[in-house]
Amino acid sequence: MTLEQLVTDPSLEGWIFDLDGVITDTARYHYLAWQKLADEEGLPFDEEINEKLRGISRMASLVIILDGREYPEEKKGEMTDRKNRYYRDFLDQLNPDDILPGVIPFLDRLKSLGKKLAIGSASRNTEFILGHLGIGSYFDGVASGSFVTRAKPAPDVFIHAAGQIGLPVSRCVVVEDAQAGVSGALEGGFRAVGIGPAERVGHGHVRLDSTELLK
Ligand code: BG6
Ligand code: MG
Repeated sequence: MTLEQLVTDPSLEGWIFDLDGVITDTARYHYLAWQKLADEEGLPFDEEINEKLRGISRMASLVIILDGREYPEEKKGEMTDRKNRYYRDFLDQLNPDDILPGVIPFLDRLKSLGKKLAIGSASRNTEFILGHLGIGSYFDGVASGSFVTRAKPAPDVFIHAAGQIGLPVSRCVVVEDAQAGVSGALEGGFRAVGIGPAERVGHGHVRLDSTELLK
């Protein structure tokens, strides 16, 4: 299957985009914020561990970083709050130039074909990021980690997004850069476009090396 086949299929009326890693590259800010927290707490952290956090919710990310170390729930809550403060400080720099290449022309094309667009992101900073990027008005629906309890790889956030644009899952395509995101989309019965290497997103219907290939 090709991207062109998905775009031109008239039955596929809805396109649901992950945010971090698809619309903008916030992974480096997540990385810097987790690094700062890990340094303060004396926890090992590097790019390899950071890669495991792609698409994973904030608390589940901390659990991966803790790697079996046991902390009281209250302390874990304080740590995720602190990481988020550091992350938000980095996000303050985010602006429309940080929209990944190829994204705006692709959204414009989908709009011109009459498709409905939505965001399906694990991030509870979704509205804040969309505001900084100045592209909130492209989307008919915005579903995020603030609305669902079961995080990716559960399909819940995508199902919520499909509901917001009034379409059954069988009529929606999900665009994702995370392994957990592509898995969630397939689990939910969506068509899935993976952005990234085959070992990460090769299980989708279509895979592209980067957003520059969105056409
Ligand atoms: C995902 C990111 O989009 O959102 C993850 O890929 C992140 O790395 C998750 O942990 C939750 O984000 P936030 O902004 O709610 O901490
Ligand atoms: Mg992502």
